[in-house]
Amino acid sequence: MGDQLNTDMNAFDSNGWAVLELPFVQNKISEAKELFNQQFLPKFTDDAQLNRELIKRFADHPFVASIFCSEEFVEAISKVAGISTAVKCGPLVSHYTSNNMTGNGYGLPYHQDYPSMGSSHRSVICWVNLADSGPEAHGVEVLSGRHKEGLLKGEQTGSAYVLDASVFEEAEATVPVISAGSVLLMSSFLPHRTYVNADFSGWKLSLSQRFDDLDDREWGVRGFKNAYRTAVDRDLYIGSI
Ligand SMILES: [Fe+2]
Repeated sequence: MGDQLNTDMNAFDSNGWAVLELPFVQNKISEAKELFNQQFLPKFTDDAQLNRELIKRFADHPFVASIFCSEEFVEAISKVAGISTAVKCGPLVSHYTSNNMTGNGYGLPYHQDYPSMGSSHRSVICWVNLADSGPEAHGVEVLSGRHKEGLLKGEQTGSAYVLDASVFEEAEATVPVISAGSVLLMSSFLPHRTYVNADFSGWKLSLSQRFDDLDDREWGVRGFKNAYRTAVDRDLYIGSI
């Protein structure tokens, strides 16, 4: 375990990402998948918007959310990322990728997550897929080591800080092989995009949670702020009663 931890720490430092195989997370994610299949999937219809809402509600299920707040989870990712006191940055978010109507073959282009956080420079993203992911399926594509370059040339859009083509045109990309329930830990500065395999008929349902380091003094100087706000749709109730 100690050797594995050192390997993960070194990989995270030099590549900006590491895959952590944590048995307790793998077991919990396997249970979460059962929950999805039994409670959420049967409610799917041919209404793609309704299905997307169900996928979001899955991330709100207390059992699913608790995995990412468990002591073991936070301790493991903190050690590898060198985080002293982890605090969540934003909610647990679900990402669905498929070539069917619900996913529509959509994936985010190359981007960096930090501009959608604006918080600690040591912040990380924990990404877990319910199914195996890699070049043969859908997944994530990363530019190893480029997190060391800080904020790269790009443009803030409504959905992400999208990188300029000059950043990745000549770059060597990696699609990590990640087994179901393993944790992809990424620096918030690591350039990445959704890997959509046009020939893959299955789907990918991943969950991600971001964390900051409360002991990052530089973040403290900036007031411990993050970019998240709680938005309430004040009109949603109209027509519901
Ligand atoms: Fe991202």
